[in-house]
Amino acid sequence: MTQAAAIDRTAESLLAFWAEAGVDAMLLDTPIDKIEAGKFVAPKPPEKTPLLVAAPRPGAPDVARAVETARHLAAEAQDLEALKAAIAAFDGCPLKFEGARQSVFGRGAANAPLLVIGEGPGPEEDASGEPFVGRPGQLLDRMLGAAGLTDRVFITNTVFWRPPGNRTPSPQEQAICAPFLERAIELISPKMLLVLGAPAAKAMLKRDEGILSLRGRWFEWRSEGGNLELPAMPTLHPAFLLRQPGAKKKAWSDLLTLTERLDRPDRGA
Ligand code: URA
Repeated sequence: MTQAAAIDRTAESLLAFWAEAGVDAMLLDTPIDKIEAGKFVAPKPPEKTPLLVAAPRPGAPDVARAVETARHLAAEAQDLEALKAAIAAFDGCPLKFEGARQSVFGRGAANAPLLVIGEGPGPEEDASGEPFVGRPGQLLDRMLGAAGLTDRVFITNTVFWRPPGNRTPSPQEQAICAPFLERAIELISPKMLLVLGAPAAKAMLKRDEGILSLRGRWFEWRSEGGNLELPAMPTLHPAFLLRQPGAKKKAWSDLLTLTERLDRPDRGA
């Protein structure tokens, strides 16, 4: 074996070791400016000064401006394909530049009566470009199927790029993506929303209670402009259900309550 091949093999084996240990992102939330760090002259010992200095985040996002741009682009999209393309071309969300491979918009029926909203893409979604395709997504599909909802849903998220290391998306990132989500709601025109997990519930319903207190209850979702209103039910996130299988009966009961209302002709609460 050549020396180069041996180095490749060592590097592959080390990466496989880290992947196995759950390290699947190589980004820090705070960037380290290596150029500045390189210029740094370490003082003489015994002073304990770090050799690497974290630079302030270069140009923290101008959230108001990004939201404005997102709103403008979203309004121009006349169908879901155009909206998907607008999201992919949008550079205003910092998540796009924090290691995500591609944007992840949605899947399902374009005229679905039920819109399912999760938190944000994970590694499988980042790789495939489709939301909820990993283990939580497979569980979600089984639950929707058992409730007779398979062809009656559109599934999306509060943010459209994978947060590094699977962290929770920040309220700013959710706010920047919100105009696209609102436009999706406008275009699909669902009868109701199913909101998965606390971060999505907080973003959609502006409520701070824990998901265990919010789940299974009806809330009124209102668009930013106030022109759209829809009944929305938060429930437990399928990733949580995989960790806590004992909670599945609660999520199932929520789904049955929601389906019952969806199928009721008057759809009143
Ligand atoms: N979890 C989410 O909230 N959304 C996905 O798309 C996948 C996992």
